[in-house]
Amino acid sequence: MISRPKGTYDIYGEDAKYYNYINGVFTAISELYNYSYIRIPIFEESSLFHRSVGEASDIVTKETYDFKDRGERSLTLRPEGTAGVVRAYIENKMYGDVSQPIKLYYMGTMYRYERPQAGRYRELTQFGVEALGSDAPSQDAEVISLAVRAIEEMGIENITVKINSLGDIETRNNYREALKKHLEPYIKDLCSDCQKRFLTNPLRILDCKVDKDHEALKTAPKIREYLNSSSKERFAKVLEYLEYLDIDYEIDDNLVRGLDYYDHTVFEIVTDMEELGNANTIGAGGRYNGLVEKLGGPSTPCVGFACGIDRLIIVLKELNKTRDISNNLDVYITAVNEEEKLKAVILAQDLRLSEVKCEMDTLARSLKAQFKQADRLKAKLLILLNSEDLKKGIITVKDNLTHEETKVDESEILDYIISNI
Ligand code: HAM
Repeated sequence: MISRPKGTYDIYGEDAKYYNYINGVFTAISELYNYSYIRIPIFEESSLFHRSVGEASDIVTKETYDFKDRGERSLTLRPEGTAGVVRAYIENKMYGDVSQPIKLYYMGTMYRYERPQAGRYRELTQFGVEALGSDAPSQDAEVISLAVRAIEEMGIENITVKINSLGDIETRNNYREALKKHLEPYIKDLCSDCQKRFLTNPLRILDCKVDKDHEALKTAPKIREYLNSSSKERFAKVLEYLEYLDIDYEIDDNLVRGLDYYDHTVFEIVTDMEELGNANTIGAGGRYNGLVEKLGGPSTPCVGFACGIDRLIIVLKELNKTRDISNNLDVYITAVNEEEKLKAVILAQDLRLSEVKCEMDTLARSLKAQFKQADRLKAKLLILLNSEDLKKGIITVKDNLTHEETKVDESEILDYIISNI
């Protein structure tokens, strides 16, 4: 038997219901906030991710799926969506559109060669939004509030928004020097990854999972203390907007994020769900004002986030929110003889055109077996077709919970069903 590749899983049954539900909520809320859908390729030129996510990042050094196609091109399965959206923004000259900012949302699979565990996969699905072209702190707040609102809409309550500011380039250069100076005496005690990070990207040492309790990290200077006045003002404004929007946040001085393109606002949304262990970050994002220019476009300030759908499935399953997303049937139509079956086909079509979710038998089941199937599908109402009734222009409807039966005039059946489901 051929098995699925390590770190991947099949989404079907209950998981599939949650998967569609989560994507549905995110899509509806993104549309409400006036974001438009974009579909970007699953693979891109490898250099796109090297230049955006970062040459020294864990994702690019250890986790990408790289391959050569039959034309010897170096390609990479996308590890995330922001780089592809920015590439599309530049390539399609969206910066020239009169209507700015450009606000986009996307969903789809991403690929990271990580060590698989609960909530951490090699094929993962993200839902993300990117707002390109606005530097306003209110745009940061909008993106964060969209994410929080969607997660809350799903009934997930115990979440924390962790936020930090990485400031502008001047801030980060000053801070990097101060941090290196502080860490230098300890560097030999830190893990091998941190020793490398010291040379390539010392800020990443701050969110190292191995060294997080080390004295060197606990006493490290905070980037907040190094923000220059414009960065400080900007961060204060974002926090003020969040307060006005009633979004609780926690400033996390060690939050630096694993992708190189960020500046100013960075944030993560975490849940307290134990099942997810340290994979409890359900969404994350931030500002990346330098990326469009770095990839060859005009200087364009941007902000966005992405949520892990797979992690949200685990959270929702645990919270047992099935009632909210139930995929139950509205109506099951029973029919046995040819005349009843023909009527059932026509009725099913009319009901579906009226947005009523209905089903009928197509396996020549006995009437008793049809009742059983209706119960399995959790049908709310049964339409019991029988030739005698049909001759009189009547249809019998049974409430599958109370078992009460009602005779309805055939001409009024649609209205009756719609007002009783
Ligand atoms: P990220 O933090 O790398 O950011 O990923 C965003 C979310 O994807 C995470 O918070 C997590 O929920 C989910 N995720 C990441 N890796 C895995 C995995 N191996 N298995 C399951 N879920 C995972 C980004 O990707 C940025 N592009 C976000 C962004 C958009 N920043 C600005 N715009």
